[in-house]
Amino acid sequence: MSHTIQIEGSDETVEAEAGDTILDACLLGGVEFAYSCQAGNCGTCRCELLSGDIVELEYSEHALAAADRARGIVLACRAQVWSDVRIRRSDEDDLAMHPARVLACRVAALGPVTHDIWRVQLEIVAGGPFSFSAGQYASIEFPFARGMAREYSMAGRPDQPLLEFHVREGGAGSVTAGLGQRLRVGDELRVTGPNGSAHLRSRHAGPIIAIAGGSGLAPIRSILSTLRESGSDNPLHVYFGARAARDVYAEEEMRSWVEGRAGSRAQVVLSEHDGSRAGVPWRSGIVTDAVDADFARLDGFKAYVAGPPAMVEAATQLLLGKGVAVRDIHADPVPVAAAAKAVAA
Ligand code: FES
Repeated sequence: MSHTIQIEGSDETVEAEAGDTILDACLLGGVEFAYSCQAGNCGTCRCELLSGDIVELEYSEHALAAADRARGIVLACRAQVWSDVRIRRSDEDDLAMHPARVLACRVAALGPVTHDIWRVQLEIVAGGPFSFSAGQYASIEFPFARGMAREYSMAGRPDQPLLEFHVREGGAGSVTAGLGQRLRVGDELRVTGPNGSAHLRSRHAGPIIAIAGGSGLAPIRSILSTLRESGSDNPLHVYFGARAARDVYAEEEMRSWVEGRAGSRAQVVLSEHDGSRAGVPWRSGIVTDAVDADFARLDGFKAYVAGPPAMVEAATQLLLGKGVAVRDIHADPVPVAAAAKAVAA
């Protein structure tokens, strides 16, 4: 039995036999489609499923994050067609094509940015060159926890020579417990990546909202400092949610990201604001409530969200309800899961 695949935004329609993958049917039908591995590992063939029934073959979570899948994104090479379907292709801006690397790195600098978050800067010693898109993440295997890699977002710009990560010092028994004492400048560690689809879409010319919770500020910093360097003038609204004054960092930088952009603002929202920093324009409450109070609608916005999974979920639902299109919400909650303690979402 044959079905049709209609490509939204173009007048292209292709025929597919039941059980064909979207990618195979499109390529056979002469429709241009970005792809690479054809095995569910690279994420190049991501597209949005607008309607229809599919069955999905196994794929890597690095190719498609659960949060993206929940928003209707599928891998065309893994999606078998079992009815007529409508899809929307990703454009080039959605693709982050970087070779996967296993890097030997050396700690070049290390220092606390809050009471429990450390800035770790790494020099690549072997395995490069390494490239990534602003907002992506990588796995780090610390020298004191071999075989127990954890994922962290790159916090710096892709063009900077050192890789920067913001690592939360965990509690007793966690991989990063006692990080400040156990990691030293000169230590060697392994970095594998890059991964993640919540990266900067530099072609977007409209307004942007960025919502970060705890150490979720790291990928947002990478995205927005890269955006600033590009000279773009998109209106930009930045919200940083944290628990208390001692969890706030990079405030000056946040202000620099919005500087010179008409109608733009960077705000810190503390769930346990005790007023201890009188005169500082911090808001009290939950970061998503602050966004809710500030905007009746957000149609046409591009959104970047990073933080604890509960905050990412709440923010995603809020943004959808205010008119942000599914394809314009970019969030990778996995690498910042360890930040969950920092924010009451
Ligand atoms: Fe690599 Fe589909 S082509 S995941």
